[in-house]
Amino acid sequence: MGQTYTIAITGASGSAFGVAVLKRLSANPQVERIALLLSPTGKRCLHDETGLTPKELAELPKVSLRDERDLGADVSSGSFRQDGMVLIPCSAGALGRIAAGTSETLVSRAADVCLKERRPLVLCLRETPLNRIHLENMLRVHDAGAIVMPLMPGYYSNPETIQDLCDTFATRVLDQLGLSEADARRWKG
Ligand SMILES: Cc1cc2nc3c(=O)[nH]c(=O)nc-3n(C[C@H](O)[C@H](O)[C@H](O)COP(=O)(O)O)c2cc1C
Repeated sequence: MGQTYTIAITGASGSAFGVAVLKRLSANPQVERIALLLSPTGKRCLHDETGLTPKELAELPKVSLRDERDLGADVSSGSFRQDGMVLIPCSAGALGRIAAGTSETLVSRAADVCLKERRPLVLCLRETPLNRIHLENMLRVHDAGAIVMPLMPGYYSNPETIQDLCDTFATRVLDQLGLSEADARRWKG
């Protein structure tokens, strides 16, 4: 059986990075299922920055959308077998909810479940500058087992387009999930 992942697009700038991760996961032969979550502001940012709708993203192979208002969705339970979750972009608000363990939204509940079940949780935070609360929350989730991976793309591969930046960052995210990619651009020394 292939791998199952959850991708959450929350209300921060950089939704194109979330789309890039989703596309690369969808194309990866090791992946069988992808649950897609979007917060209300995540939907708005996705539309403003890419022109895409959640429904269009859910047309990608293997991807199925969950309703953020449905706190009884499969991803809210530890019994749902999955191999990890990525919030990309991850807003400071989503980070704060996860750090506080409030589980009041489907995204924060699903993330909380990953932490309690010791499954990989990657938080691609997008906020700048950072205040003390953000910094403390990052340390808190790190100590609880999350991987804090701010949306800081690398420039050493000489990207020519925003898509190049998104793709190289997406490769690094898949690395964190233990997924290899045949066409990954990598530093060769
Ligand atoms: C257009 C727009 C852009 C935003 N960009 C960011 C951002 O880059 N980083 C951030 O932390 N919050 C940003 N916010 C604020 C969050 O969306 C807001 O705090 C929200 O409550 C986060 O909740 P969510 O994670 O459930 O989407 C933005 C809001 C809007 C409307």
